[in-house]
Amino acid sequence: MESEKNVKYFNDLEFPARKVWMKTYGCQMNYHDSERIMSHLEKLNFSTTEDQEDADLLIFNTCAVRDLANQKFYSHLGETKRLMKNGKEVKVAVGGCIAQTEGKELIQKYPQLDFAFGTDVIDNISEMVFRTYAGDSKFAVNTWDRSSDYSIETKITHGNPQAFINIIKGCDKFCSYCIVPFTRGREKSRKLAEIVKDARRLVEYSGIQEITLLGQNVNSFGKGNGETFAELLYALNEISGLELIRYTTSHPYDVSDELIVAHRDCQRLAPHLHLPVQSGSNTVLQRMLRQYTIEHYLELLEKMRKANPAMVISSDIIAGFPNETEKEHQQTMDLLDKAQFDFIYSYVFSVRRGTKAAKMDDFLTDEIRGRRLREIQAKQLEIQKPLRAQMQGQTYRVLVDGKKTMAGQTQWKGRTPCNRIVHINNLSQHENYLWNWLDVKIESTTALSCQGFSVRSYGRQAPSTL
Ligand code: SAM
Ligand code: SF4
Ligand code: F3S
Repeated sequence: MESEKNVKYFNDLEFPARKVWMKTYGCQMNYHDSERIMSHLEKLNFSTTEDQEDADLLIFNTCAVRDLANQKFYSHLGETKRLMKNGKEVKVAVGGCIAQTEGKELIQKYPQLDFAFGTDVIDNISEMVFRTYAGDSKFAVNTWDRSSDYSIETKITHGNPQAFINIIKGCDKFCSYCIVPFTRGREKSRKLAEIVKDARRLVEYSGIQEITLLGQNVNSFGKGNGETFAELLYALNEISGLELIRYTTSHPYDVSDELIVAHRDCQRLAPHLHLPVQSGSNTVLQRMLRQYTIEHYLELLEKMRKANPAMVISSDIIAGFPNETEKEHQQTMDLLDKAQFDFIYSYVFSVRRGTKAAKMDDFLTDEIRGRRLREIQAKQLEIQKPLRAQMQGQTYRVLVDGKKTMAGQTQWKGRTPCNRIVHINNLSQHENYLWNWLDVKIESTTALSCQGFSVRSYGRQAPSTL
């Protein structure tokens, strides 16, 4: 018998203390959604467990962006069959981007699945969990929120000083290769005033010092509401106690002159821009329906770096878009030289059912795609090595966010405002530096890592002099 204090009630159904195991795939938006799901489940008496065997409820928050992400999920889902054999009652749910487009099929196909839920019904998770514990099973909910408003309050379940804040959902761009507009729906922005109030509340009452504004296309923020992303950044920059503002991801089509100037004016704004280019070839960009040229893209980088010389720029590249010629591939290689990215995420093209690119004739082989990806990655490493070397001798303000222990030695790490990961070498082995602010001087770098030592420690209080 559960003691009374271990039971919570939802719609009169008893919820004894239970454990949830959750696996998240994909982008930061999905990770943020998972946190939101947890904040609802806590009210139903769930706590998290890392151990599948120990869990009463398993949730997969899925990503559909490339085939590899899909395959990972299907193989993990397959493994859950063995849990069903142990005789314990375990519920299994699938959410996120695969569930949005394929929820009903998944439920029919996999006997171990109890329910599926899409990306626009996250805030109804309590009702769905209630339904499944009330005896209903094998249902899929993947409806779209039809209201014209997008209004939410950020929920955080952790005690650290970093928070993600959704500012816009969905995507209207329909790049020819991309599944996201189908899994996340049409673009809808929150109101600027609501976001500023949300951020102020997080800073004042939850100890948040660093925020990351989230959206598939953050700089399209405010269209339809008569507001702009630059205006939002200026407003957030006024919040005292907020140390750092980051954002991701932006689309080159929507980078305005005002946004560029905001990077000059807003001291709390991180000097980092992740601006996916996808290809260095204008003809491929046209086939991708990306709505800009390489000349325009390079001009944006030049303006950004002029407005703020500390600006660090990273990007995404797709190798082997359908029918990409060797010449078009070489144009991407040339772009890497011209753009001098600090970092890239690069992928081979992956066919996504229902997208325009899936219907294109395609003469490229996996082998050609793989070779091109390797060439892109090798070239980028050559480029970023001297860029990182320029950091040597410079001091950066770093929020310590983790550690690794090797051979009994602990090494703490954090990220610079410009988004480079730094490992810190001279900290005491006996103290806990997690979420401390440090000034870190860089002593050595490679293409992929930076090592430094702390020259000043501020404890957990942001050292803002703004
Ligand atoms: N909204 C962002 C933008 O417009 O650049 C990116 C969103 S998407 C989740 C992240 C990255 O996945 C894209 O920038 C693209 O490089 C990559 N991607 C998307 N669809 C892909 C596909 N079908 N094959 C390979 N990579 C893909
Ligand atoms: Fe996908 Fe393009 Fe939208 Fe980015 S802008 S999410 S790549 S459709
Ligand atoms: Fe994947 Fe969906 Fe994000 S497809 S990348 S989890 S928006």
